[in-house]
Amino acid sequence: MANPFRAKLTAAALLFCLAASVFFYATARSSAVPRGGLEVPTPTPEAFDQAGAVAKLRESIKGRENEPAGKVFKNVKNLAEMPAGRLLAVMQFGYSRSLGVDCTHCHTPDEWSSDTKPQKQIARDMHVMMGKITSDLLKNMESLGGRQAVVNCTTCHRGQVKPATNMQ
Ligand code: HEC
Ligand code: HEC
Repeated sequence: MANPFRAKLTAAALLFCLAASVFFYATARSSAVPRGGLEVPTPTPEAFDQAGAVAKLRESIKGRENEPAGKVFKNVKNLAEMPAGRLLAVMQFGYSRSLGVDCTHCHTPDEWSSDTKPQKQIARDMHVMMGKITSDLLKNMESLGGRQAVVNCTTCHRGQVKPATNMQ
């Protein structure tokens, strides 16, 4: 014999189960394990206004763009002979863009001369390595027949912090 109260209860229970499974499915998906790939600790680039920072720096060296970076800035070792204005372009395009990062990967904003981030010293060492490959190794490679062969940050990094070692 059909019991209308029981039928209602069964329908309610079924609806509850359906809602619960939809809920669990949704939460399971949103907390899914991060997708594969390299975990690189890039410091919160979303919060950093790179264009604004560069504009502010350009303003602060106005009129001194062509003076050597070593005179205009406080703590420049390898790039000291380069015009100060060019150093900023190197930071923007040579360094940040080549590695696919922003200034905060190597600097604490507004503390540009500080060496607290290890990436900054790595970048200096990379610069020395790059110079050796170009000036010592490639230049003296007789088989190249005197071609003007150069490597730079982009040659290896191509928009990534960790250069690829295979063609994945
Ligand atoms: C991959 C690391 C790296 C990134 C990214 C980077 N820099 Fe640098 N920056 C350096 C290094 C290394 C030096 C010091 C160069 C030297 O010693 O010759 C430097 C020096 C500077 C200086 C000179 C500071 C002083 O007073 O000594 C300024 C200004 C600067 N960077 C601004 C920027 C800005 C703005 C950005 C982003 C557009 C940026 N950098 C991105 C590595 C980086
Ligand atoms: C001959 C290839 C090559 C060139 C040229 C090169 N790099 Fe690198 N770079 C590497 C490799 C390899 C690593 C290490 C990646 C790893 O295994 O973590 C690295 C790592 C780095 C790191 C550390 C990244 C991090 O946060 O872990 C920085 C910063 C860096 N390079 C900056 C530069 C800059 C700036 C230039 C140009 C002046 C440059 N590199 C040129 C190959 C290169």
